[in-house]
Amino acid sequence: MAEELTKEQIIEALKKVRYPGYSRDIVSFGMVGEISVDGSQVALELVLTSEDPQKRQQLEDDVRKTISGLPGVSEVEIKVKSPPSPQATARPAAARPRGEEELWTRAGIPGVRHIIPVGSGKGGVGKSTVAVNLALALAQRGARVGLVDADVHGPNIPGMLGLFEKPKAQNNKILPLTSGPIKVISLGFFLDQKEPIIWRGPLVGGLVQQFFNDVDWGELDYLIVDLPPGTGDAQLTLVQKVALTGAIIVTTPQDVALQDAMKGLAMFQKLEVPVLGVIENMSYFVCPHCGKRTEIFDHGGGERESQARGVAFLGEVPLELGVRVSGDEGKPIVMSDPQSPAAQAFFMIAEQLEKVVQEQEAKQPAPAS
Ligand SMILES: Nc1ncnc2c1ncn2[C@@H]1O[C@H](COP(=O)(O)OP(=O)(O)O)[C@@H](O)[C@H]1O
Ligand SMILES: [Mg+2]
Repeated sequence: MAEELTKEQIIEALKKVRYPGYSRDIVSFGMVGEISVDGSQVALELVLTSEDPQKRQQLEDDVRKTISGLPGVSEVEIKVKSPPSPQATARPAAARPRGEEELWTRAGIPGVRHIIPVGSGKGGVGKSTVAVNLALALAQRGARVGLVDADVHGPNIPGMLGLFEKPKAQNNKILPLTSGPIKVISLGFFLDQKEPIIWRGPLVGGLVQQFFNDVDWGELDYLIVDLPPGTGDAQLTLVQKVALTGAIIVTTPQDVALQDAMKGLAMFQKLEVPVLGVIENMSYFVCPHCGKRTEIFDHGGGERESQARGVAFLGEVPLELGVRVSGDEGKPIVMSDPQSPAAQAFFMIAEQLEKVVQEQEAKQPAPAS
């Protein structure tokens, strides 16, 4: 007698079914809902955002063919569902590639104009430092800015800003803390800092979504998101569930860091999130004693690689003792020493970023009202 059919076998088989026109499979797109197996009968749900009846039919046919082809299957019942309607607008047209429809329900936050994650392939390149200082620099230029610490495994924004209160809730929403001119939320505000944080994948996704949906952000021009290193669950949730204007990639000029950063860049591009630009951090060192410039980790790789990939280069930040010290003391360099070369670099990067965002806004047609 044939072995019992399992859900795992069904899922494995569905991983070979691609979404029409894409190289990605429907399981990784999150389109497979509940599966039940009863002897030789299989029932499963497909959750499709596409309203295109042809695509829905094609997928249903592909899935039926794949599952009925499995040994031991006599009957396949498929229920095609639409996802629950998003709380806000879908992903902005700007962030959507030409002629392609929505694959995920990427929701924006009402009142928030631009959500911009700061990522990299690697830890320790200064992502959090860049996220904090860039947020503050944008605010100094007059923008309304929020900052999400989405590094759920090692939130260090609270330390960098010297913020350790517990946020309050109002009308079922969490009120972000404020640090100078910016609003901030971090998992670190809710946890004992000494505990190592280990979250399983699905929890990470839920947490990340809460930072967007359950926080009272008010009206913002920019919501900057500090991501954990790499291309894990937090990144995927963000990319699949949140309407992003585009991502910023931080790298150091060092070869390894650069290669990893370019992997991060490729991930965003593959998932159809525009990359707004690359920042080279720890780009060079100016000796505080003699003023001589030294390129400790080499120099210029960020600009070279971003040009090669047709992505804007937003600027370079020098390696400066004050950046680290001010970060450790909870007073980012942009606030504590705005005249320093690093702070000046952050102001220039903020200006560049605003230009890139405006150019992108100009390219997209006005949203239909
Ligand atoms: N330009 C810089 N000059 C000096 N120190 C820096 C600079 N950028 C980051 N650092 C320091 O490097 C360390 C790692 O930075 P961090 O922002 O935490 O990186 P990531 O978020 O990518 O892991 C921190 O101690 C930070 O203060
Ligand atoms: Mg960090």
